[in-house]
Amino acid sequence: MNKLFRLKNFPLDEKTLRLQETLFHNANGYIGVRGTWEEGVPTEYDTMRGTYLNGFYDVIPCKQSESLCGLIEEKDTMLNVADTQTIGITVDNEAYNPFCGTVLHCERTLDMEAGITERIMRWRSEQGRTLTVTYRRMASFQRQHLFVIECDICPENGGKVEVTSYHKGLVKNYANPKDPRLASDSGVLLQAAGHSQIGEDTYLLSHTIKSGLTVCTAVRHVFPGSADISYDARSHSYIARYAATLRKGESLRFVKYTIAVDSRHAEDPLAAAKKLVANDCVELSQLYAEQRQYLANFWRNAEMEIDADDESDLAMAFNQYQLLQSCGSDGLSYVASKGLSGEGYEGHYFWDTEIYVLPFLTYTNPALARKLLRYRYEILPLARENAKVLGHSKGALYPWRTISGRECSGFFPAGTAQYHINGDIACAVVRYYLATFDKDYLVEEGAEILLETARLWLDVGNWNGDHFMIHGVTGPDEYSCIVNNNYYTNSCARYNLRWAARLPELCGKAWGDIAAKLHVTEAEIDGFCKAAERMYLPYDETLGIHAQDDAFLQKPLWDMAATPVDHYPLLLHYHPLTLYRHQVCKQADTILAYLLFDGGEDRETMRRTFAYYEKITTHDSSLSRCIFSIVASKLGLYDKAWDYFGESLSSDLRNTHGNTGDGIHTANMGGSYMMIVNGFAGMEVTERGLSFAPFVPKVWRGYRFRIHLQGSLLEIHATHDGCTVRLIDGNPIAFRFYDRMVALSAEHSVAEESV
Ligand code: BGC
Repeated sequence: MNKLFRLKNFPLDEKTLRLQETLFHNANGYIGVRGTWEEGVPTEYDTMRGTYLNGFYDVIPCKQSESLCGLIEEKDTMLNVADTQTIGITVDNEAYNPFCGTVLHCERTLDMEAGITERIMRWRSEQGRTLTVTYRRMASFQRQHLFVIECDICPENGGKVEVTSYHKGLVKNYANPKDPRLASDSGVLLQAAGHSQIGEDTYLLSHTIKSGLTVCTAVRHVFPGSADISYDARSHSYIARYAATLRKGESLRFVKYTIAVDSRHAEDPLAAAKKLVANDCVELSQLYAEQRQYLANFWRNAEMEIDADDESDLAMAFNQYQLLQSCGSDGLSYVASKGLSGEGYEGHYFWDTEIYVLPFLTYTNPALARKLLRYRYEILPLARENAKVLGHSKGALYPWRTISGRECSGFFPAGTAQYHINGDIACAVVRYYLATFDKDYLVEEGAEILLETARLWLDVGNWNGDHFMIHGVTGPDEYSCIVNNNYYTNSCARYNLRWAARLPELCGKAWGDIAAKLHVTEAEIDGFCKAAERMYLPYDETLGIHAQDDAFLQKPLWDMAATPVDHYPLLLHYHPLTLYRHQVCKQADTILAYLLFDGGEDRETMRRTFAYYEKITTHDSSLSRCIFSIVASKLGLYDKAWDYFGESLSSDLRNTHGNTGDGIHTANMGGSYMMIVNGFAGMEVTERGLSFAPFVPKVWRGYRFRIHLQGSLLEIHATHDGCTVRLIDGNPIAFRFYDRMVALSAEHSVAEESV
């Protein structure tokens, strides 16, 4: 697998650098630092210079012009914390500035085995001095509070090198009032709360205004000699100055360690930061070795080899690596839709994690998936509160987007109304359980989530004759809002209710305590079963397809042919009501239900439905194409599956949605993994058992990946000559392989010829 992403001699324009800030960000699930430049960029550049801590937020006003009952008035926003990136360099009093003079060579690398990024700049100044500066950065996976920069400065003819390195406490968040996917306003949200210096180590303490959180950042420099440190109260910043006179061929190398710790992890962040500085700011060689070790373990299980062109292989590795970088593992944080790479969607957590990211983690690193799922359990009390705000007497309603657990959707028709979030979370609980048989999880956390989400469906839906219906909700497709009987929502509610009804049997002896704690009665379980059994799913007899909702197929079709190409995404060019009144989809909706909820639909109906929605879907959301690819594979439409795969796999590397500069699209990255595992390899993990039916795209020679299922580690290797499944580790395992059942025990493999 190709794990080296390198760009050379790129232009230094705003657009390129903005994109690279995202692509070369460093993160470890807790700290995320954008790949902005130590030396800065011209002030007129629209740069998003940021350092983020997963789940560290403040609460800001979200004023509604008409304060209707229950609408939110404030929301969480992920905060940009102290800037420890900035480093100025001069040689013989001439400032190093790649935007003046000549860049002779520039190069950026992300090494996904080493877990570091590197930037090399060879530059000639206006006065003719030549200088090579190399920066290496790492957010340590083993030491979650540590970020480090190694800097090497080599003036070709020697000279006096002066370094000015900042630890800046006064920072702002990014804003763009023209794009609804970004914050519209930015202010200083972090308030200075203290500073101290111990030796050459500097500490800045800051408070949020409203959420009551505190963060401490610490910086330690290791220069060859001692530095001059000063504090500037106006900018709540420390500045370290160091100078050295170098001879020709010599270079100045120094290390800048950053520690960040916030009050969710430590009662006294300053004391914690001091300890972390003492423990974690160790020799770089040790840190680099640890990072490699961590990643060797990660890749051992996650590796997916694509035997074809180099780009596919690299793009898949890139996506997997970014998912790892994004993933919180402390029960307090989750996976933001942009990971820790940027401020798009203000660092909010959506259903993206359950439906798109969790499968990758569950199948490659079940222990990490388990840690991640804890977050949803932790915010269950707030989901119960939210249900009350929405007028429900029972159950829990998870917020559509959030950090702390409170609802943060400013525009409720395309936000809060997406009740399917409850079914998505329930689905993730079940999928994790089916893949791991982790009964402890089910008993300790999963059951409570399944019950409380199921309860809500009974409260939001109603009986109409002998059908159970759900009105006034929004499905995944945000171009149709507040509809009745959204096919996806009703399908996920049915799935949720069915699994909640099975809990007494699944939890065994533990059920008594769970039922007592949550006051579950037999009558309630019976209610779940009946509603699931009689759940109404809209179907159009004339077209022979599932309708997205009750009214969807009665609306006029959107005129795609007459829509100028630069009017996509439609959401930036048309009033929402115009979109709602047409048959046009932002993203996969009905067909996503086919993938997830195992509803027993017949193949012909699915094919017709697929063909219908394919024509009216814009894929304005990056969550869409991957689903079309997987469902196409499922339906044997392999050419289509391949086309969607191609359009989706490298989406961020190629910036196909035009907004990767605001952050990566984690859902699409998880989706790209699923396109191979669940799509091409046809893997299904349902209550009926496991199955694989791999096919290999024409232009590939083959692919290979490993997967954790029910305590076993399997390796699937598919080529045009056949497919082999090997049991690498763990218990014997049975599954359907194409159309036969096989049982695999240690040291055995099963093969099928001509895939
Ligand atoms: C999509 C949502 C998604 C959100 C965050 C929106 O554009 O429509 O489905 O959850 O982006 O990725």
